[in-house]
Amino acid sequence: MSTVVTWLGHGAFLIETAGKTIIIDPFFTSNPAATTTADAVNPDALIISHGHADHVGDAVEIARRTGCLVIANHEIIEWLQKQGVKNVHAQHIGGAHKHSFGTVKLTIAHHGSSLPDGSNGGNPCGILLRLEDGTIYHACDTGLFYDMKLIGEEGIDIAILPIGDNFTMGPEDALRAVDLIRPRKVIPDHFDTWPLISQDVDAWASQVNSTTDALAVVLIPGQSVTM
Ligand code: NI
Ligand code: MN
Repeated sequence: MSTVVTWLGHGAFLIETAGKTIIIDPFFTSNPAATTTADAVNPDALIISHGHADHVGDAVEIARRTGCLVIANHEIIEWLQKQGVKNVHAQHIGGAHKHSFGTVKLTIAHHGSSLPDGSNGGNPCGILLRLEDGTIYHACDTGLFYDMKLIGEEGIDIAILPIGDNFTMGPEDALRAVDLIRPRKVIPDHFDTWPLISQDVDAWASQVNSTTDALAVVLIPGQSVTM
């Protein structure tokens, strides 16, 4: 069965693969772009990229209610445990681990990671998923960095890149990121949630399609793409 990737708005993605459901950065409450709610999802696993409230989001509530596995860096896992989350798996940058649905490797990201209550959320991460039918790289919140070339050397079927600017890469740097990563498909995220990060996504997609070998896949929140 093919992996299906659904944008849930902002940095949140639902990935259905190997009979399991994984949600990355489950930010629904207070997310104007959210297409679902914290009490409506039943994932097998959550993966949290960094500590900011628009990424940790509803993770505590979802994890407590469902008992799903939560994967994140060591500092965020320690904080989640203090909030009563029990089913956890800590990893850290550069480290890969084979889970029931596929292998998760955390990568570098250039950003912050303080948690909603001001606790230390360690260093922010990107997420590399090696699944049964392909590889997904979600850059998460980051500026452009040249080591994206190393990540691209792993062979990326779908890259998810922020284009919102201000807090992360904007459209121009995201285009340079596509050149470094050389994915088959690229999905833009982290834009249009609020006016501050609104972008002309169709113009960006046209540039990707005319100047790189990648295919830009522009989703609207709630839409899916198959690997
Ligand atoms: Ni952030
Ligand atoms: Mn963010």
